[in-house]
Amino acid sequence: MRTISWEFGVERKGKRVLAADRNWDMGDRAAAAASAIFLDNVEKTYGGRSGVRALAPITAVLSAGETVGIVGPSGCGKSTLMRLIAGLEAPTAGAIRIGDRPVSGPVPDIGIVFQRDLLLEWRRVLANVMLPAEIKGLAGLESRARELLAELDIAGFAEAYPWQLSGGMRQRVAIARALLTGPKLLFLDEPFSALDALTRDQMNVLLQRLQTSHGVTTLLITHSISEAIFCADRVLVMSGRPGSVLDDIRVPFERPRRLALRETPAFTAIGRRIREHFEKAGVLVG
Ligand SMILES: Nc1ncnc2c1ncn2[C@@H]1O[C@H](COP(=O)(O)OP(=O)(O)O)[C@@H](O)[C@H]1O
Ligand SMILES: [Mg+2]
Repeated sequence: MRTISWEFGVERKGKRVLAADRNWDMGDRAAAAASAIFLDNVEKTYGGRSGVRALAPITAVLSAGETVGIVGPSGCGKSTLMRLIAGLEAPTAGAIRIGDRPVSGPVPDIGIVFQRDLLLEWRRVLANVMLPAEIKGLAGLESRARELLAELDIAGFAEAYPWQLSGGMRQRVAIARALLTGPKLLFLDEPFSALDALTRDQMNVLLQRLQTSHGVTTLLITHSISEAIFCADRVLVMSGRPGSVLDDIRVPFERPRRLALRETPAFTAIGRRIREHFEKAGVLVG
């Protein structure tokens, strides 16, 4: 028999698997649990039986409000995993649930940010942020859009066009747009990979500030080990294709976090633990 609980994880054949044991101070546990993500032996093979095996069975529980960093070699199925959870693709085997709802089609309540910001160049910044409200026919969200722009330190650019902004500012607009309707889930697929190193550091600080203020369940896919550790409550380390979870590391640092954290022994020890997995797998030669 199998027991599932969003606090204690999934018990399967007596073996405790990737569980989260975070303590919640939210009043409504049921509401909080509604954005927990349950992956039960999820597999994905593209193109039939003889096709590309992207994901080996993955079983994990991602707690509500948690930020989970996912690191793994290129092509190991990170984006696939995100698309499966978002219901944009169906798993070949296994089941996915968000709260108590099985994922069987596109999940409406997710903000997604990609490496490319996908802003509409002919719309002003505010109009770009408002796009999800227009698509969903929701009124009265302009003040929220302006608040988000302020929180992302770009309030002064509400009337600018995307082409007038730097790469980092454009990505801030994309994040504001993703958060506009107050989604339960925020998925970021290598959101800062195209940015220069300093801008990326700044975006990391900003992202973890947002996590403190919004507490949305977040998946952050990244190639950067230090970005994953700095931003996340927990890092899942994936193997090469077919992707499976090699390690599930709790990141214990208090928020808000400062960049200097990255130079502390506790931080670099986590980085070493992750790198060792990649070295063992031959993905990284040190
Ligand atoms: N729609 C698709 N059809 C066929 N193969 C795909 C498709 N999407 C991804 N793949 C393959 O699945 C594997 C995992 O891809 P992906 O999830 O994009 O990896 P990652 O995001 O970790 O780089 C890759 O080998 C990729 O070529
Ligand atoms: Mg990808």
